[in-house]
Amino acid sequence: MSTPHGTNPGPLYKPFEKLVKISIVGKEFEVPEGNIMLRAFQYLAPENVPYGRFCWNEECQYCRITYDMGEGSAPHVALSCKLTVKDGMRVTEINQEIRYCLRTLDLPRP
Ligand code: FES
Repeated sequence: MSTPHGTNPGPLYKPFEKLVKISIVGKEFEVPEGNIMLRAFQYLAPENVPYGRFCWNEECQYCRITYDMGEGSAPHVALSCKLTVKDGMRVTEINQEIRYCLRTLDLPRP
């Protein structure tokens, strides 16, 4: 079976049986459960996220986001290379680097 760009997604994503629903600045998406948020971003924009300036290693801070778990829940700042996606997670703030890498998703402007 051929895969886009000649890459094998096998080792990239942790094994998943289902997708979970998350939102990114108000727009809803489904991403593989049990993966980190940056991997979820890559799942949604596989052609751009690998070229972002991300260290994937909790050092560069370019992947910083704010998220909460739904209406009225407390916002948290997190690194998306460390944060595991959960059903219902709402990414409420993204920075320039992430927005640029997710440009194909047509996210609402702040
Ligand atoms: S990708 Fe560098 S800190 Fe997350």
